[in-house]
Amino acid sequence: MKKLFILIITVFLISCQEKPIVVPLLIYNMGDNYMSDFENRIQELNGTRVIYETYDCQNSQIIQNEYIEQLMKDNYPLLIINPVDRLSVYAIINKAIETNTKIIFINREPLKSDMQLDSDLYYIGADAKQSAELQAEIVMELFGNNPNQLNTFDKNDDGIIQAFILKGEQGHQDAEARTQYVIETLLDNDFEVDVLDITIANFDMLTAVLAMDQHIEKYGNQFEVVLANNDAMAIGAIESLINHEYFLDSNEDGIIDRDLEQWVPVIGIDGLDIAIEMIQNGYLYGTVLNDSQAMVEAIDALTVSLLINNSLNGFDYQITDGQYIWIDYQKLIFE
Ligand code: GAL
Repeated sequence: MKKLFILIITVFLISCQEKPIVVPLLIYNMGDNYMSDFENRIQELNGTRVIYETYDCQNSQIIQNEYIEQLMKDNYPLLIINPVDRLSVYAIINKAIETNTKIIFINREPLKSDMQLDSDLYYIGADAKQSAELQAEIVMELFGNNPNQLNTFDKNDDGIIQAFILKGEQGHQDAEARTQYVIETLLDNDFEVDVLDITIANFDMLTAVLAMDQHIEKYGNQFEVVLANNDAMAIGAIESLINHEYFLDSNEDGIIDRDLEQWVPVIGIDGLDIAIEMIQNGYLYGTVLNDSQAMVEAIDALTVSLLINNSLNGFDYQITDGQYIWIDYQKLIFE
């Protein structure tokens, strides 16, 4: 009898334990290096309170819409969405309003006018202009910080920085702002810049290898720096530059000794682990950390506030305009 009583109590207690809340996480394309790293970090947060369930939208807005429709039918209270096409979230937002679903958008920022349609919408991301300004700072430091007297990185000694820009996806807020403001920041600081070419390489490593191959064929060694909108493209450019012997690891120790061996400056944005490794071994000159760890922590904190605490009171981040949580970028160069 006593045993039966204990069993009943145990079953009762187990059934009273709260199950973790499942939150769907829709990634625009898991083939994207930065987003797959981002997703890994979110998965590491899975615990007793929240389980994030990943959906790979394979770079298709149609696939993403189908997932969203089903998830809303299934009454998930919150979706985390990395939109495939950030300009077409209007329909998604209207469905969210109809079904009373909260949304945290990440990484690909919807239009402000769409965000303003409902107060249950949030965006967690980073201000692309800041990444461009920091990338420009790395360039200015590289060239000696004095626009009137560039150092020896001004190879042809004309007082002008000759640059290639590898641009991300057309229309993506990061690609547009990083390209525009890296140039503007240099000009605002009185540096003269001659952009030899801006090529759209869609944030993609392989596309960047091909783009860089073509640049080298067309311009030879006229360029003095390669500015990539992200690390994947910077790494692609380096691969092409290695193939064309712009990097020469003469003693074959796997490291470019910048004082003794041949190299050219390539600068990225994102701070992927592999990019940090390449900074340490001398191939990548620098990058700007697009702080995914800080972003996923903010996402988790907001999820807990919205779904478990039902209040933003203990939410420890600044919310701008009632909807935006901005995470700072940081410069990363070899010290
Ligand atoms: C950017 C990132 C890129 C790419 C893109 C996808 O923030 O720098 O590498 O991942 O997001 O939307």
